[in-house]
Amino acid sequence: MSKSLSIEINASGIATLTLNRIERHNAFDDEFIVEMTSALEGLATNPAVRVLVLAATGKSFSAGADLGWMKRMASYGEAENLADAQKLAKLMHTLDSLPIPTIAAVQGPAYGGGVGLIACCDMVFASPEAQFSLTEVKLGLIPAVISPYVIRKIGVAQARRYFLSAERFSSTTAQRIGLVHELAPQDEVIVLAHSWATQLLNNGPMAMAAAKRLVAEVADRPICSELNDLCAKRIAAQRVSNEGQEGLTAFIEKRPPNWVKH
Ligand code: COA
Repeated sequence: MSKSLSIEINASGIATLTLNRIERHNAFDDEFIVEMTSALEGLATNPAVRVLVLAATGKSFSAGADLGWMKRMASYGEAENLADAQKLAKLMHTLDSLPIPTIAAVQGPAYGGGVGLIACCDMVFASPEAQFSLTEVKLGLIPAVISPYVIRKIGVAQARRYFLSAERFSSTTAQRIGLVHELAPQDEVIVLAHSWATQLLNNGPMAMAAAKRLVAEVADRPICSELNDLCAKRIAAQRVSNEGQEGLTAFIEKRPPNWVKH
């Protein structure tokens, strides 16, 4: 792992992935994208890891795509540009579908793809210093790869405004439009993220993974008998699972379930 990214896994299974490309405001180029994707894939398949905290060092959370890299890609053909953009798409998808809870600790500004990363996380905490902007159109670009995640998070009405205006908006606005869940002072954002990560360890790991899949499966679907059947199937499977049985038994026996370590 290069010094642009660091991973720390504590004894409880909380992994902290920290963006550390300070001199570029944590902007990501092709190498960084591949490295981060493979780091996330490694965390996804590591049974010791139960929660991910995505954090950053330096003044910015992330300045999004590395503009030097974007400019360089103009000298490549269409096929290479497509393959290159697909790497970013893979990073977003990998983060979005990680089978563990993901918590973003946003200590500073996030631009373009940086907003995309945040939109792929389950919980987002930000400091008042953390401004946001989808700057792409100012640069003659569009927030294409991140759009499914950002639109899903903030909705069409807000996306139409912020994709077109490329204006900066505050953490308070980000919270109001659903990009950020809670605000905390800058030096406490990471503390809040870790405190939530610790609380999540009390929940069934398989249940949280299934709950996350459930949101993805159910969101934006019309409520019809097919969807009702699917939801019934999901709870039927969960309650007879080892974890479901252990959780229910522990509650009845007034003891902590076996996934809670003391
Ligand atoms: N890609 C590559 N390099 C970037 C970058 C990016 N997205 N954002 C910042 N940097 C680099 C700058 O080029 C500069 O490099 P240099 O020291 O070699 O000149 C360095 O980071 C510091 O940036 P600077 O603009 O001097 O710092 P600042 O504190 O005044 O402003 C930002 C920081 C992030 C607000 C500003 O650089 C910016 O607006 N960046 C573009 C962000 C963006 O639009 N991202 C979306 C891309 S789709």
